[in-house]
Amino acid sequence: MATLERDVVIIGAGPTGLTAAHELRKAGKTVAVLEARDRVGGRTWTDVIGGATIEIGGQWISPDQTGLYSLLEEFGIETYPRHKEGTSVFVGPDGKRIEYTGEDFPIAPEKVAEMDKLIAVMDELAAQIDPDRPWEHARAEELDMISFHHWLRTLTDDEDAATNIGLFIAGGMLTKPAHTFSALQALLMAASAGSFSNLVNEDFILDRRIVGTMQGVSKTVAAHLGEDVVFLNNPVLKLDWSEEGVTAYGATVTVSAKKAIVAVPPNLYSRISYNPPLPRKKHITHQHQSMGLVIKVHAVYDTPFWRAKGLSGTGFAPTQIVSEVYDNTFYEDTRGTLVGFISDVHADAMFELSEEERKARILADLANFLGDEALTPEVFYLSDFGSEEWTRGAYATSYDLGGLFRFGPDQSVPTGAIHWASSDLAGEGYQHVDGAVRMGRRTAALIIAALDGTAHDPAYDGSVPVPDTAHA
Ligand code: FDA
Repeated sequence: MATLERDVVIIGAGPTGLTAAHELRKAGKTVAVLEARDRVGGRTWTDVIGGATIEIGGQWISPDQTGLYSLLEEFGIETYPRHKEGTSVFVGPDGKRIEYTGEDFPIAPEKVAEMDKLIAVMDELAAQIDPDRPWEHARAEELDMISFHHWLRTLTDDEDAATNIGLFIAGGMLTKPAHTFSALQALLMAASAGSFSNLVNEDFILDRRIVGTMQGVSKTVAAHLGEDVVFLNNPVLKLDWSEEGVTAYGATVTVSAKKAIVAVPPNLYSRISYNPPLPRKKHITHQHQSMGLVIKVHAVYDTPFWRAKGLSGTGFAPTQIVSEVYDNTFYEDTRGTLVGFISDVHADAMFELSEEERKARILADLANFLGDEALTPEVFYLSDFGSEEWTRGAYATSYDLGGLFRFGPDQSVPTGAIHWASSDLAGEGYQHVDGAVRMGRRTAALIIAALDGTAHDPAYDGSVPVPDTAHA
């Protein structure tokens, strides 16, 4: 058992923890990062499966994600565009398959108009919401009392329009049924991405990928931190704390430090035994944040066969098990890869099936979108973060009804020497790697200011490397 003394101990080597470590080191602070897994990157994770590079976790970056973009720039990491050329496919509730171009689903014009009306309402409200403080909106309490499902139905009588719009945030983002979270939570999701229009525009939100994979970003930062900074296979199950400092106990490394950053998703905070116990409000707050559930489907073919048919590989089917599909061919790969998503209750249903039944059911949906060639992939793999002990769901956590207004203001307030940070607590970039980078930078800036006895700029948004003025 090694015992270390550092300025800051960071629990979790995901993008949040590693970005914080990097910023702290740049400011001359000593750091140790204790990571439970045998790898860095957390919910970003790449593996080579059947000879194909598969991004099992987070992978896409959108144009507004300047927190992550500035980190990529710092390390000279390149991006490449997702393949988007060609027509898209829509499979309606009647199972009818329609090829289309443009942003609108090929449904009746009056339904498109109704969806546009809902999008306009969402955009207007999202523009009024500060993603760092959604609970401060004048209607926050009211909007947090009603489920997103029911709120949409107060705005329209068109069931299809409400279902389609609901899916963009429910199945598509929070990966929970729309009746389990509030309208305010949905508006936070929209505000965190700039607008609801951005979220429903797959060409924006799924714009580009990282040449060396998204996990590669964490690997690069960890390598830059050097030896004796990141300690893998060191789950922290016990944390002593006071106002003055902390001691974190990993499996083989114990670290005493002036500050700790718990950079793990909130649903895992209670894996750690705190001594003394956390204050009442902290005990309660994080019990109201829970992970969604989504299966990310990967199917690799010897060629991107859909491109030869003029198809982009993009498909939507609001009532299918696999509700979205995209061309996910990896950088410079000559083969073709599709990625699909199966959310919330559909994911539950898939895990009830045998492995063969599950595969057949999922491939049938891919074939509905793109043709029977989809039935015979060379590689078939399902990302299952729900069974990962150190994540327990995907993509991220969100509050239950009423939780965001009631507990949100306390979610990031430090407890003695402990700071809490992860993409789940981010405003801008919420649930995304961009939010993780921003939270890492913001938390590091806060700690640097506290350790140096300097003023901290509370408006610092983490979008660029910590400027000297942030704690001048
Ligand atoms: P993260 O969960 O990544 O890291 C936390 C780390 O803490 C983990 O390494 C974990 O092992 C460790 N840990 C937990 N408990 C511990 C303990 N007690 N002791 C020590 N270590 C502990 N985002 C995006 O921008 N674009 C995308 O396309 C996607 N897509 C996507 C798909 C899937 C399937 C998933 C699961 C997620 C995404 N995301 C995404 C979300 C993105 O991956 C996520 O927001 C960030 O990885 C969050 O980074 P954090 O560092 O905050 O947490």
